[in-house]
Amino acid sequence: MAQLTPGLDAAVAEPPKSPPCVIVLFGITGDLAARKIVPALYNLARQGLLDERTAVLGVGRREITSEQLRQRLGEALRAGSGKRPVDEKVWSDLSERIEYVIAHADRADQYDELAERVAELDADIGAGGNRLHYVATSPEAFDAVVENIGQAGMHRPGAEGAFARLVVEKPFGSDLSSAQALNATIAERFDERDVFRIDHYLGKETVQNILVLRFANAVFDPLLNNRFVERVEITTAEGEGMEGRRGRYYDRTGALRDMVQNHMLQLLALVTMERPECIGCEPVRDRKVELLRAVRPPTGQDVAARTVRGQYEAGDGACDYREEEGVAPDSQTETYAAVRLGIDNDRWRGVGFYLRTGKRLARKAAHIVVVFRREASGPFTDEACDLRSPNRLVIRLYPDEGISLVFDAKVPGMRPLLRPVRMDFPYEAAFDGGSPEAYEHLLLDALRGEPLSFIRSDEVEAAWRIIDPIKIQWNKTGLPTLNRYASGSWGPAESDGLLGDAYTHWQSP
Ligand code: BG6
Repeated sequence: MAQLTPGLDAAVAEPPKSPPCVIVLFGITGDLAARKIVPALYNLARQGLLDERTAVLGVGRREITSEQLRQRLGEALRAGSGKRPVDEKVWSDLSERIEYVIAHADRADQYDELAERVAELDADIGAGGNRLHYVATSPEAFDAVVENIGQAGMHRPGAEGAFARLVVEKPFGSDLSSAQALNATIAERFDERDVFRIDHYLGKETVQNILVLRFANAVFDPLLNNRFVERVEITTAEGEGMEGRRGRYYDRTGALRDMVQNHMLQLLALVTMERPECIGCEPVRDRKVELLRAVRPPTGQDVAARTVRGQYEAGDGACDYREEEGVAPDSQTETYAAVRLGIDNDRWRGVGFYLRTGKRLARKAAHIVVVFRREASGPFTDEACDLRSPNRLVIRLYPDEGISLVFDAKVPGMRPLLRPVRMDFPYEAAFDGGSPEAYEHLLLDALRGEPLSFIRSDEVEAAWRIIDPIKIQWNKTGLPTLNRYASGSWGPAESDGLLGDAYTHWQSP
C-alpha cells in the first residue's frame, strides 16, 4: 500500500530535539542499560535529536572504570545494531560524555558525592541545571534510590527554570500496596508531572497508532462498542524463555504480573477508552484510568473458570522451566496466563475481553483482534456460506506490524457463495524507513517533558487493582491448576475453553 502523500511527512514534521541535560542512570551496568537505554541514546544522537550538551553519569555497584564501562556499552551496541553498522564517530562523541561512579543504592552517604559530580558535569557541559534521574536498577532498590536522591537534594533542578525529572522502570511494585508505597516515596520528592513510569509498549509505533486509528478516522471507532463487538482478544506470545539471565526475577513475578498488569492492560485501555478531548497527555491518561477502573476482573470462585495458568516443560530443544537458572525446582510460577475480563460501562457491558501471554510458545507474536458480531438474520444469512467468519479488525504489533480488516466477499461465479477476505495495511510497505525503537521515543519524550506515553500514579494503581484479586485467589486456592505445556506449543489446551464454546478458538492472524 503506497503512502498517499509521499514526502509530506518530512516536510511538515520538525524533528523535536532534546534539551541539554545531565542524565543520572542508576543501574548502568545492567542488561537493560546495555541493550536498550544506551543504544536508544546513541540512535537519538545519530539522528541529531540528542543535544550535544547531554552527559550521562552512570551509577552502579560493579568495580569497573569508566573506560571499561564505555567499552562494554560499545560492544553491546555493536552486537545489537543488526544490519546497520554503528557510526563510530557518533558513538565516540557520545561515549566521551558517559562517566561511571560506583555507588550503592542504599548508601545515603554516597549520594552527596554523586550530587557534587552531577553539578560539576553540568557546569562542564552547560546542561543549564537540567537533570533526568533514570532508575533502572533491580526493582528492590527503586525505593532506596528515590529516597536517597531526595536526601541529597538531587530532586531539585540545578538552576532556576531548569527541570529535575524521574524515570522509573518496570516493574512498578509487585502488588497494589507496594506500588502505593513507591508512589508515596516518589510523591514526597517529585511533582507527578516530573515522574515518568515506563511501559515500553507505549513507545511502540503500532501502539501509538491505536489512538490515531480510533480517533483520527471516521470509520472505526463508531463500531467499537457492545452493539457490534462480540469479543476482543489480546495476545502477546514469546518464543523465548529465561535466556539464562531472567530466571531469578521471573520466578518471583510470573506472566500475570510481568506482562498482563502493564503491557496488556495498557493495550486493553487504548483499544477501549472513551474519546479524549485532545491528545495532550492528561485527557488521554484520564480516560485510560476511567477505563481501568471499570474493568471487572473475576473474583472468588470465578477465578478458576475465567483464568488459565500454565508453565512450560521441555520441548522443541528447550529445557523445562524448572531447570532454568534461578528458578526453583518445584516452582509454581506461571509462564503462561490467560484471563477473561469484563468492562462495566455502557459502551462495553456484555463484551468478553480475553488476554493471553506466555513464554516459550510457538513463536513471538503480539496482536489485538476485535471480533465483530455476526448478522443473526439478514439477506445473506441463509446463503451457502460455510466458510463465512465474523468480521475482524486485527492490529498486529509483531511480526508484520500493521492493521487488517477481515470481511466477507462474494466468491466470483454463479453460486451465491461468500468467503472471508482481508484488507491490509502493512507499516513497512506504507511508510519508508524503519520505525524507531520504543526506547528512543520514550527517552526523547522524558527529556522533553512529555508524559503521554508514561504511566500515571493512579493508572498503575488501577492496574494492580485488577491483578491483585486474581493473584490472591490463585495463591489461596491453587485453582485453576497450573497446566504444564510443551515448549514450542501454543500453551495449555485449557486456554481455548475460556472462550466459551467448543468451536471457538483464539484468533491467529
Ligand atoms: C518485558 C517483560 O516488560 O517485556 C519481558 O519483562 C518480556 O518478560 C518483554 O519479554 C516483551 O517485550 P517485547 O517488546 O519484546 O514484546
